[in-house]
Amino acid sequence: SHAVVTVIGSFNIDHVWALPTLPQVGETLAGTYHTGPGGKGFNQATAAARAGARTAFVCALGADAGGQLARSLAGADGIDLHAASSDAPTGTAGIYVDRQGRNSIVIGPGANASLDADFVRAQAGVLAASTVVLAQLESPVAAVAAGFELARANDAMTVLNPAPADADLPPDLLALSDLITPNETEFCAQLSRHHGERLVADTVAALDDATLHDHCRKLLPQGSVIITLGAAGCFVSHAGHQLRGDERAFYRVAAAPARAIDTTGAGDAFNGALVASIAQFPDRSFARHVAFATVYAARATESAGAAESMPHLAPDAD
Ligand code: RIB
Ligand code: NA
Repeated sequence: SHAVVTVIGSFNIDHVWALPTLPQVGETLAGTYHTGPGGKGFNQATAAARAGARTAFVCALGADAGGQLARSLAGADGIDLHAASSDAPTGTAGIYVDRQGRNSIVIGPGANASLDADFVRAQAGVLAASTVVLAQLESPVAAVAAGFELARANDAMTVLNPAPADADLPPDLLALSDLITPNETEFCAQLSRHHGERLVADTVAALDDATLHDHCRKLLPQGSVIITLGAAGCFVSHAGHQLRGDERAFYRVAAAPARAIDTTGAGDAFNGALVASIAQFPDRSFARHVAFATVYAARATESAGAAESMPHLAPDAD
């Protein structure tokens, strides 16, 4: 089948504790436990599929119950799964969520760490048939770069969600990205790494638009940047020559109202919905894609879990 969106990324089994507050060093707390599918890659692929796009997912899975769960869930959502088999266990994440819906996450990459460039190159058929290729940094950089090279060779748009913040992001991979979508923490981490610029994540949303735009241009001179700002919405910055159907080179989009109970995967919801809209409606303005992704992400925060919380919600057809 010809995928319109291909996601290259991680699958994790999430182990989630809902707690009154996040635990401090040396503290023991009791919370409500549940487990479910996650991983930034799988969350984003699920969002893309539930936002109406034909979606493929390239990943690595262990030969265990987690890997089987990934296969059956992908099937249920109509996701075209291309999974490398790994000797390592399927990826895991431990997630604490407090009463305000904030979270702390640790990950055990497991099988995700074994996704390699050769396996991705062997999926050339599906990558060549894609309109957009989306990836994150929970998978090896070489695998993502191989996918983006194939995407570029076939005129597909490359979108990099540079998460998590502590992941390495080599200049070569930035150069292969048409659009990056960091949150404020990830944006500050990469600006510091690549340009020695010391911004404080908490202050990013309060910076004036022209300053933010300048920082974005420094980080990705050739492409577009969306900084997601949680409840403050997002900031969009385009390269001057490439406005992607927008009238302005930079602007803000307010968050959609939400009664958030679990923000886990909200960024993933945004990314999956964004590329699903771009792939299905290539003639729409970028601002309209962002508006859809904003609404989609808000809805995802209103139910618990990561992949499970992705709403079935496609962009308006008109
Ligand atoms: O972005 C949220 C995801 O990050 C979780 O599902 C968890 O698996 C971690 O990868
Ligand atoms: Na959620």
